[in-house]
Parts: sequence; structure tokens; C-alpha cells
Amino acid sequence: MEIYTVEGGYNLTGEVRVSGAKNVALKVLIASLLTDEEVLIENIPSISDVFSLIEMLKEIGVRIETDEKKHRLVVSAREIKRNKITSPHFSKLRASFLLMIPLLLRFREVEIPLSGGDKIGVRPIDRTIEGLEKMGAKITYQDHSHLLQAKKLTGAKYTFKKNTHTGTEALVMAATLAWGETVLKNASEEPEVDELIRLLNDMGAKIKRLSSRKIVINGVKKLHGTKFTIISDRNEIVTFICATIFTRGKTVISPVEHLHLTHFYEKLSVAGAKIEQRESRLFVNGANSDLKGIDIVTSPHPGFMTDWQAPWAVLMTGAQGSSVVHEAVFEKRFGYISELNKMGAGIELFNPDVKNPELFYNFNLTDRGDNFHAIRISGPKQLLGNELVIPDLRAGATLVLAALGSQGTSKLTGIEHIDRGYEKFEKRLSALGAKIRRVEVASK
Ligand code: EPU
Repeated sequence: MEIYTVEGGYNLTGEVRVSGAKNVALKVLIASLLTDEEVLIENIPSISDVFSLIEMLKEIGVRIETDEKKHRLVVSAREIKRNKITSPHFSKLRASFLLMIPLLLRFREVEIPLSGGDKIGVRPIDRTIEGLEKMGAKITYQDHSHLLQAKKLTGAKYTFKKNTHTGTEALVMAATLAWGETVLKNASEEPEVDELIRLLNDMGAKIKRLSSRKIVINGVKKLHGTKFTIISDRNEIVTFICATIFTRGKTVISPVEHLHLTHFYEKLSVAGAKIEQRESRLFVNGANSDLKGIDIVTSPHPGFMTDWQAPWAVLMTGAQGSSVVHEAVFEKRFGYISELNKMGAGIELFNPDVKNPELFYNFNLTDRGDNFHAIRISGPKQLLGNELVIPDLRAGATLVLAALGSQGTSKLTGIEHIDRGYEKFEKRLSALGAKIRRVEVASK
């Protein structure tokens, strides 16, 4: 088993290059199956989620040539041999359920396991299923799998009850090769969705975002191959910003699409952090940042993204005063709090009063168990190194940055969660002066 050992107390200093976005890369790989021509993908991150998906695609007959050093790969789905997914990799990633779209369009019938991903809530796909049924698909729930059948998909008008990022991507992909026009209302505005639309339009699709939450797709008969470059990962950018500030360091992060981070920058500036945008670079100066505690509520784009709440919570442990983080997108995304509390954070979990929970929360209220949806942080607290267990991907990166800014040494297990989404994380942090090592130990 591999673990991280982190010696806290060193400022992160220097320049760091951001990797390609995981949540664009996975969708682009899957969308490449919508054509039998070659799709060349550049700036693909070398992370285990991408490797798992590549394995899954190869298992069904897709040809993929990878040049890992150049972060480039070519997908050729001229031949797909199977329309039933049984891969053990499937349940590792949430995005894998999207595979049902190209397979349904090609075979008219597909069987896929129930969807997977981080354990941050129930994560059903009911909104996608409802939309696909409107387009003419018949979906049967079998023992631990979904069977989808459709002789053809027909354009439809569909309004998502609540936001769904990957669900929007599923219906956009399906509508691209459906007959006629599809209008999606209350569709997700995440930048990753627009990147998928950019790829599909490059492949010959006819997709327009008519207003912030309305997407119109005119089905085409065929898509063709293309070349596509993946944008920087905005979650990785946030991780490096928080790590810099929390360790009182000074870094330059690039390339950054600032527009995708507007809400985060606003909150940083209100809390008193010092950042400066210069073209596609971001200068972060945590050296003299005395932060004050402020409240945030997570929401779909353009709000404060759910993936940012964990690193933000760490920043708030060092801020003056009390602050609240209210998680409205996933129902169970505070798995890291027990670990921060082991380090001396003293964070309290609670359920705030919400006037209209149905409207407020992005998850289905019927899925709601006895989870807590908010935390209260009282700062500033000096965190102390400890033995930490990583519960999921974003929380993993967060616990690393907590360890970097703490006093003493931490040992972190569960680092395979980090490998899912952060390329050579410890190497890039070490290059910035962090004392972090990947160590092989006997499993307990
Ligand atoms: N939901 C339903 N029914 C649905 C769809 C969603 O109840 O049919 C619920 C979910 O359970 C969740 C909420 O609605 O509580 C939002 O789900 P959404 O579908 O928007 O999120 P997702 O597509 O599962 C993607 C990213 C997440 C990111 C969120 C928010 C991928 C593969 N995952 O998840 O990324 O946090 O959107 O932008 O794109 C990560 O990278 O670590 C990660 C978790």
C-alpha cells in the first residue's frame, strides 16, 4: 500500500502548471465514440480515472493510442464489439454511465451497471433517464444494471427538474444524433458542459446555448473526427490557490481560464486573500494574508462550486472568526471533517434551517438521510499533523493541503483517491518546496 507522509510548515513557492481538466477529458473520450473517425485529444491528464476509462473502452473494442509524455491520445471507435459493460472499472467513475449514449446510438440496445464515482451521496441518474425516455428510449432497471433500448432517438423538449452536470452532457450527446430538434431547459451551465459542446460542434454537431440554461440541439446524421485540446482543471487551480495561501507561500499558477473561477476569486477577495490575474496566469500571495472567516453556500455554476468547499474549509480554519460552509449540491460531502478535527480544527457539523429545501438543495430530497449539510468553523486554529484517512478525491487533496500547512508530520492513507484526479500531485508540490513523499508500507 502507498501512503503520503507530509512534514508541515513549509511555504509553497514557485510556478506550477495546471493539468487538463479531468471532467472534460472523461467526457471527450466517451464522446469520441459517437464517430467512427479518429479523434485526437491533446492535454489529456495522466490520472487513474483516465486510465480506467481507457481500459474500459479497449475492453469493448475501441482503439486508443496513447502518448503519455505528450499528454496526447487518438481514439478510433470504427469498431465497437460489445454493447454490454461488465468492466470492474465502471463503478470507479461517475462519468462512465455516459457510455450508454454512444452505445445506445450505435447498437440500439445497451446494458450498463448502476453508476459509480466518489461516495459523496446517492448519485442517481433519474434526470438523465427521464430525458432519454422523452426522446423515445425504453429503460428497464434490472438487477444492478440498466437496459436501454431505442430503435431511434427523437428530438424532444425536456426541462431538468434540478441541475445535473453529467446528466446535461448525456442528453446533449444523445440529441446530437437524434432525429429533429431537442430543447433542454434548466440545463447545467458548468464550463465542462460547454467544452463538451465545443467538441461536438467541432465534430459536426449543431448545438447552441441560447441562454444561460437553455440548450438547443438539431440532430445530424453523422459526426466526424477532429482534434481537440482540453482546458485546465479549475478544481486543481483552486487546490493550488488554497495550498499557497494556507502555507503562506507565493506561487504563479498557469494556464488559468479566470472566467471559470469568478465566484471563487470574489470570495477570496472578501476573505482578504491576495491574488492577481495577469493574462492566463494567476499570482497568489499568501505571505501576508490574514484571512477573515466568511460564509459560503455551494451551488451549480456560476456559483461556488461544490468541489471547492473542502479546500475552502481548510483555509477558514486559519481565518479570524466564525464561518459556515453550506453544501447544497451533494448530500454527503463532509467525509473529511472528522480528519480535520483530528488535526485540531474543532469544526461542528449541523443542519441549517432552510425555507424551501426542495428548491434549495440540488440532490433529490427523497434521498436525504440523516446527513449533515453544513459546517461551522471557528478560527483561527493551528492544525497539527496526524494520521489521516482520505474519503474521496477532492477531500484527499484537501487533507494534503491541511497537512502542508500544519505543525508536525502527517501520514495519509487512501491516496489512490488523489491519483484519480491529480497528476503527479506530490512531485508538483515538492517542486514548490513541500515536504511530501509517497511511501510504500505494508497494508494493515
Ligand atoms: N442528481 C440526482 N439525479 C440525477 C442527477 C443528479 O439526484 O439524475 C443529484 C446528485 O446526486 C447530486 C446533484 O444532483 O447530489 C448534482 O449532481 P450532478 O449530476 O450535477 O453532478 P455529477 O455530474 O454527478 C459532476 C462532476 C463532479 C462535480 C459536479 C458538480 C463529473 C464526472 N463529476 O458530478 O465532480 O462535483 O458535477 O459540478 O463530471 C469530482 O471531480 O471529484 C467530482 C465529484
